[in-house]
Amino acid sequence: MQYTVTRTDSPDRRGTTVTNSHDYAIRASGLKKAFKGATVLDGVDLAVPEGTMLALLGPNGAGKTTTVRILSTLLPFDGGEATVGGYDVAREPGGVRHVLGLTGQYASVDEILTGRENLVMIGRLYHLGRARARDRADQLLHQFNLADAADRAVKTYSGGMRRRLDLAASLIAAPPIIFLDEPTTGLDPRSRQQMWDVIRDLLRGGTTILLTTQYLEEADQLADRVAVIDDGRIIADGTAAELKERVGTERVELTFASADDARAALHVVDRTDTAHLHDDATRLSLPVDAPDDVRHVLNALAAASVPVNGIGLSKPSLDDVFFTLTGTHAPHPPTPAEDGTPTGARPGTDTHPQTLSNSGAQAR
Ligand SMILES: Nc1ncnc2c1ncn2[C@@H]1O[C@H](COP(=O)(O)OP(=O)(O)O)[C@@H](O)[C@H]1O
Ligand SMILES: [Mg+2]
Repeated sequence: MQYTVTRTDSPDRRGTTVTNSHDYAIRASGLKKAFKGATVLDGVDLAVPEGTMLALLGPNGAGKTTTVRILSTLLPFDGGEATVGGYDVAREPGGVRHVLGLTGQYASVDEILTGRENLVMIGRLYHLGRARARDRADQLLHQFNLADAADRAVKTYSGGMRRRLDLAASLIAAPPIIFLDEPTTGLDPRSRQQMWDVIRDLLRGGTTILLTTQYLEEADQLADRVAVIDDGRIIADGTAAELKERVGTERVELTFASADDARAALHVVDRTDTAHLHDDATRLSLPVDAPDDVRHVLNALAAASVPVNGIGLSKPSLDDVFFTLTGTHAPHPPTPAEDGTPTGARPGTDTHPQTLSNSGAQAR
């Protein structure tokens, strides 16, 4: 199943061609981890070229946070090896911490302090002088669109503001490599966009990023490459475009008036291995190789008297990829919360349907 590519396709990014292992800012091979005998990572391989982003995409419980914690030296591991910034994670943890910024899945800033006080305090912990710490705090507050709220206690911040402050905190020391563990989980769409903007800024500045996500669209939008993790194994690794190619070049997406019609259509097309219903239950997506395929499908539906409301062609979405790889739908990310609610929406507590804005009929 697994394949590996060694170059990125983004013309506007650095590090397009990778030939030497030392060009990888982050590299892991055969990482293993068990908790009390239960295997959680079963040989994870990752390679992130300098100045690029890898999205580690997987459902809740797949092993994303465990991988991040191991790579950031916060958790010992049982097998395999890893380097971060050229430092061996097991033997040179001090070096790894030196090159690393980490934003946890759970915000780690102090609620009682103001945003500015948090950043200055962390700057002081990094041994920046008082004036330097204040300057750096100002700069980051500005960059993360938090200047207006800088002198308010963090407990008054919205979920999106907290996440941005948390990310700013991890950037105090301007690390060349950062890990972002589900930075937008539970955020509303606007806050997510703002977070994406600052992440894109970091990439443009040359930062190497390992980002974990349950959002297919996030991986697709931001990352040079995507590694899909399921049950402690990497089940696919490539560019988003390459992953999409694995499920055919085009997909036809049919929209029905009701879930009953959509289910009937699934029965008629009889391609349960490659066709699947979207979570809204009224859209059916299936691969097509030739224009004739579309005609056959429509003819079969007409013959069975299943009315079709809409039809569109799309490039396969990552959800289609996940379905092809695992035979199940991609995990449901937590429903974005309203900005202004605490960051309480956590993975694993969620059973809401997912909407994929990139799985619509528009070609990508
Ligand atoms: N400290 C721990 N003790 C026991 N099991 C753990 C611990 N941390 C994580 N796990 C288990 O390891 C698996 C992977 O967890 P995690 O890496 O947090 O997944 P993800 O971040 O992809 O949601 C889960 O089944 C989780 O329950
Ligand atoms: Mg996690």
